[in-house]
Amino acid sequence: MGKLFVCDHPLIQHKLTYIRDESTLTKDFRELVDEVSTLMAYEITRDIPLETVQVKTPVTTTDCKVISGRMLGLIPILRAGLGMVDGILRLVPAAKVGHIGLYRDPETLEPVEYYVKLPTDVQERELIVIDPMLATGGSANAAITALKSRGCSQIKLMCLIAAPEGIHAVQQTHPDVDIYVAAIDDYLNDHGYIVPGLGDAGDRLFGTK
Ligand code: URA
Repeated sequence: MGKLFVCDHPLIQHKLTYIRDESTLTKDFRELVDEVSTLMAYEITRDIPLETVQVKTPVTTTDCKVISGRMLGLIPILRAGLGMVDGILRLVPAAKVGHIGLYRDPETLEPVEYYVKLPTDVQERELIVIDPMLATGGSANAAITALKSRGCSQIKLMCLIAAPEGIHAVQQTHPDVDIYVAAIDDYLNDHGYIVPGLGDAGDRLFGTK
């Protein structure tokens, strides 16, 4: 079973409160999501391997650490995932960004890919799938499946808020994927919204409501 990591740093929890607040305006909402994404990136990159290099300081030569191993790839699920990309890139500017767009088939209710554009070396990268809301888990599962079908194997999932139903669904379908969230909420309501949640993340990020 993949690891479930709740990023409960006080700064993240504080900012998440204002992200949830319906009176928070679009500009502030976007900035807060960006800031929380940076803070979560700090946690999600904690296990990146290091290697030793020699550095000549003005005083002597010494062993120091630099990041080694796989380069990162960020895979936002369109469109709400876009709101978290810049905040992560602030800490890992060399990461490449791929995009996955999904819609729900009105008859089968299954997610269908309508746009997939990935870095050419995506199989060699450690990937972070990004979606602010892990609701049913349908989109996250489909995005991870899309990556695996293209040869990717090292995948993490990063969300702001998760419903228990979504966590369960991803853990069942992709037990190799670690999940990072800022909060686990109570349940999904009949309209598919996470309760208490923050409403529609895409609408609140882009001011479309
Ligand atoms: N997507 C959202 O944007 N909000 C929810 O509560 C659930 C899914």
